[in-house]
Amino acid sequence: MIVALNNKSNFTRDEYVEYLKEIEEITFKGKLILCPTYLNLTVKTDVILGAQDVSPYEDGSHTGEISARQLSALGIKYSIVGHSERRLSETEEELFNEIRRLLENNMTPILCVGERKADREKGSTKAVIGNQLASVTNYLMENERSNVIIAYEPVWAIGTGEIPTNEQIKEVIDFIKSKLPNNKVLYGGSANEENIDTLKEIEGIDGYLVGGLSLKPDKLQIFLDKLSE
Ligand code: PGA
Repeated sequence: MIVALNNKSNFTRDEYVEYLKEIEEITFKGKLILCPTYLNLTVKTDVILGAQDVSPYEDGSHTGEISARQLSALGIKYSIVGHSERRLSETEEELFNEIRRLLENNMTPILCVGERKADREKGSTKAVIGNQLASVTNYLMENERSNVIIAYEPVWAIGTGEIPTNEQIKEVIDFIKSKLPNNKVLYGGSANEENIDTLKEIEGIDGYLVGGLSLKPDKLQIFLDKLSE
């Protein structure tokens, strides 16, 4: 099981240092990947780290960008790509280039896909997700593809407390696995220590991407314990 923690834009450096002490105490037999802000990625720790985003470009004249090479040099092995809170400002081509840059630097992309509420209501969930997966399914070589982790995050479930039914989640996970049978697939969107008992009944989920829960180490520990039961 993989559990990725998306801190989003939370914690000053001082707050993060205190928070990190609690995360370092967490026990979990699976793989925990902590994705703090860029600033906090430079704090030394034995916890496995991921970035929340990466530049689509190599090093160079790209003001404000952080490249995969720079992240990799810090020992960072993962990066979220295409989170719905960023997708509005990123094109599919940029997302594909972000994935490329990560793979070139031996890093693992965690590609977020997911439908909006209106897509689900129109019955176009799979069409939308199929398009979002296209960069991986159509443009990556077969031997590169399985190095991408997919996170299914219905946009309407992120930070809302509203969560799809197990059947709805399973249908999408199965759809993703039908296109990418060798890839790990995570679920994200309001997963917490209360609904994990229900979520973990879904077959085929390889882990979770959690936002709000990542900020509360005590609740996160309960979540991880229940997940491991
Ligand atoms: P949430 O966020 O767990 O707070 O819903 C998940 C995410 O945005 O990755």
